[in-house]
Amino acid sequence: MILDGKKTSLKILEKVKEKVNKLEKKPHLVVVLVGDNPASKIYVRNKQKAAIQVGINSTVIEMEEHTTEEELLSKIEELNNNSDVTGILVQLPLPEHIDKNKIVTAISPKKDVDGFTPENVGRLAIGLEPYFYPATPQGIIMLLDEYNIPIQGADTVVIGRSNIVGKPMAQMLLKRNATVTICHSYTTDIEDKIKTADIVISAVGKKIVRCKMVKKNSVVVDVGIFKDENGQLTGDVDFDFVSSSAAYISPVPGGVGPMTIASLMLNASKVYQ
Ligand code: GUN
Repeated sequence: MILDGKKTSLKILEKVKEKVNKLEKKPHLVVVLVGDNPASKIYVRNKQKAAIQVGINSTVIEMEEHTTEEELLSKIEELNNNSDVTGILVQLPLPEHIDKNKIVTAISPKKDVDGFTPENVGRLAIGLEPYFYPATPQGIIMLLDEYNIPIQGADTVVIGRSNIVGKPMAQMLLKRNATVTICHSYTTDIEDKIKTADIVISAVGKKIVRCKMVKKNSVVVDVGIFKDENGQLTGDVDFDFVSSSAAYISPVPGGVGPMTIASLMLNASKVYQ
């Protein structure tokens, strides 16, 4: 069965829209985009479109590639202090001369709709409710829940250890009482780990989950999205082969991507002040 992220995301967006409609003061999401990364520009446009769709005010601040760390920090401080702004998202990656951790750390945790600040990451890690959960892992959990896939006690494998997906994904699975294995570029036998997993979540950006690797009736979530050698949009999972043994699989596109956007809108609809 297909884990239909497109359909599920529309349901979530509809709920967010209803919630936002009832709010006296509309949330205001500010997305900061530094430089000319073409993929980032597309992501930011999609986030803005979704915000408009659900009635969240959104502003995109475009800053030039040569923006200094100080200039960006001062912009964040301005947004932190602006009571009209309820959510701040700095699109990653940033140009190389800017220290992304320094930037992320400067965002007010109560406006950190990405859930990337040390306070929100730490809260998740010690079992306190974070102000925001990172959008992609939260979207994946919502997708699994939509299909009533049991997480508690499941053997799960997360491939990738990024701050954006892998690490928070592992934390969120732990919070739901799954057994979690995190695989990465130094893992010695990934296939060995994958083949016993009930749920596999791959966030690498390379074709890594291939034909006979997954267990019969397992659940496979594909977070990867990149262009293959023919310029076709594809994911980490060899869909045709893996779908013959998995019980559930998320497609690319139409799986995790739209769930991430919906999950971000859910975050952006939350106002702390
Ligand atoms: N770049 C890729 N994914 C993300 C994300 O979820 N948030 C931000 N800010 N940048 C990203």
